[in-house]
This record gives sequence, structure tokens and C-alpha cells, in this order.
Amino acid sequence: QAGEPEVEVFSVPSYACQRRTSLENHNAPLTDALSLLAENAELNDEEGRGVAFRRAAALLKTLPSAVMSASQLRGLPCLGEHSLREILETGTSTEVESTKGSERFKALKVLTGIFGVGAKTADRWIREGIHDLHQLRASGQHYADINQPVTRAEADAIEAIVEKAVSSVLRGAQIVLTGGFRRGKPSGHDVDFLITHPEEGREEGLMPKVVSWLEKTTRNSYLESKDGPGRPPSNMDRFERCLSIFKLPGAAETPQRAWRAVRVDLVVSPISQFAFALLGWTGSKLFERELRRWAGHERGMSLSSHALYDNKQVNEGAASEEEIFAHLGLEFVPPSERNA
Ligand code: GTP
Ligand code: MN
Ligand code: MN
Repeated sequence: QAGEPEVEVFSVPSYACQRRTSLENHNAPLTDALSLLAENAELNDEEGRGVAFRRAAALLKTLPSAVMSASQLRGLPCLGEHSLREILETGTSTEVESTKGSERFKALKVLTGIFGVGAKTADRWIREGIHDLHQLRASGQHYADINQPVTRAEADAIEAIVEKAVSSVLRGAQIVLTGGFRRGKPSGHDVDFLITHPEEGREEGLMPKVVSWLEKTTRNSYLESKDGPGRPPSNMDRFERCLSIFKLPGAAETPQRAWRAVRVDLVVSPISQFAFALLGWTGSKLFERELRRWAGHERGMSLSSHALYDNKQVNEGAASEEEIFAHLGLEFVPPSERNA
């Protein structure tokens, strides 16, 4: 038809694990808005709403160009009632604007921006009338560093220390950088490592040794471990996991010291489960969630960071991430394309 500009109607597979999502995002204004709504939902303990917004954002991140009109999104899954149409038409949405302006959201953001403070603590403080750092200080609460992103260079420096620790306590033990940095992100909220040994069983008891080595040898760069050897592993997964805090030189909130705290996630896996652990700890969180949803809903399988079970409860072993994708009937997606 004459005069009708041709617009591309996007077509995208439903599951994020069927798609490639690099760090290049052509729809940042829309995904920023949806991420803000997701964050607000998560901070208010509305997990279902949070996931719906995260899914919608992930879908837009995967598109090859900027969305110009809502009609291009016709038939796409999980976009539903969200504020997208309004944002496309007016440049913003009433829900996004009212969230940004909300005193509670602002307070939750400021307070959870403190190192180690989660939604629950922030909520308690708000109910006690503490909405910002000034009020927190006045309340006499001890408060830690403000969260600052960790850079790739800092991650590399920490990798060298962890590498030294691991190979010092167990010859032949290996470490791999996982999480966002493995996906190519230039910065992150923490640094994630997976530790293993090529001989099954040799990795047993490794975590306490690594932590002791760090405590003894690297007084200048190692602060503490939160989820230490004494603590039972979370029921989400049975790997030995340790949330550590490293010290890095840099501006800290407290003027008396010259360093700041950086979170480091250490996970130990036996070599037989290594591929599952690597896949499970590389993320993104939404990509992982979608992999498990795909496995369950589309394949009748069950995927964790330890194993993949088929519908007869048979354990499908895998020596690589590629094999796991093949078992799941999915095309392999490299880490740099898992930024859903
Ligand atoms: P930034 O750290 O913010 O840069 O992003 P990230 O993608 O590295 O996120 P994060 O460090 O929180 O998590 C990395 C991966 O580990 C994600 O895929 C998570 O799903 C996964 N993960 C986090 N906690 C657990 C856990 O307790 N058990 C398992 N199995 N996986 C987890
Ligand atoms: Mn991380
Ligand atoms: Mn982590």
C-alpha cells in the first residue's frame, strides 16, 4: 500500500534459552523501564511480577533493532499488559514515573545500595523510619560500604589471588571465572569462581582449606568469609559455596580506611558435575530460569547445577555445556549470548 511505511514485525522464540542475547541492546529505554519495574517488584517481594517484567525485558534485549511501534511486537509472548505501549507512544509510562518518584522505592534503592543489605533489612529500616543514609547514621546503626561495581581489571586481580590459593592447597586444582564476567560483562556486583579438580573426589574438603589459606596468607586483600565452612550449604544446591569479602584499594565510605569491600562467590564442584555447575553459575539469572523452565515444560526433564534427569529419572551425564544443550534439544548458546 502506498504511503504505509514498512515495519518489521519481530518474531522471537518463547524461551530465552532458545535465543541469543549479547550485551548489545537496541532497546535500552524500554528494557531500562521494565528492569526498574522488575526491581521494584523484587524489592517488594512480588516475585511473580518481577519475573514477568524480567522476561519482557529479556525479550526486547534480543531484538535486532529498536522497536518503533507496538504493532511490531504483535504476537510476542510475555509482553501483556505492561507499560510498553505507553512508553512507545509517550516516551514514558505513568507506572515507571510513579515508581521512580515513590518515597518507598527511593528508600529501598538507597538502603539496598549498602554492602550486604537486602530487601528484608531495608524494609525493616523503612518501617523504623529510616529512609536514607543520614537517618541510618543518626540511628547509630553500623553501616558498611556503598555497593560499587567491580571492574574486569579488579576481577582479574582477584582471580590471580584465588588461583594462587587454590593451587597452593591442592596441586592440580583448577578455577574458572563464571557469572557475569564469563558472559563478557565489563563490570559486576561480585566476582564468581568455580573450583574443581580433574580427579573425582580430590575436591572434597577443599573450601575450608582455601578459606584458611586466604585468611592466613592474604591479610591485606582478604577480609572474611560469610558462608564459611561451618555453615550448612543452602538447600538450593549442595556444592560447597562460600561468600567471601575481599579488600581492594579504593574509596570507602568510612574515611578511616583506604580500601573497599568486594564480594567474591566461591563454589567447589566435583569434576563429574562440573559442566552442570559451569552452566548453572554462568547465568544470567533469567537465562538459567528459562533453561530450567524449558527442561521441565518442554522436555519433562529436570535440570540443576548438579545434574540433568530425564522423565524416567535417569541421570544424563555430560562432560561439557555443549552436551547439556544437546540433551535438552537446544542449540548451543555461548556464554557471551546468555545475557538475557
Ligand atoms: P553480577 O554479579 O551482578 O555481575 O551478575 P551475575 O550474573 O554474575 O549474577 P550472580 O553473581 O548473582 O549469579 C551468577 C549465577 O549464579 C547466576 O546464574 C545465578 O543464577 C547463579 N546463582 C546464584 N546463587 C546461586 C545459588 O545459590 N545456587 C546456584 N545453583 N546458583 C546460583
Ligand atoms: Mn556475579
Ligand atoms: Mn554471585
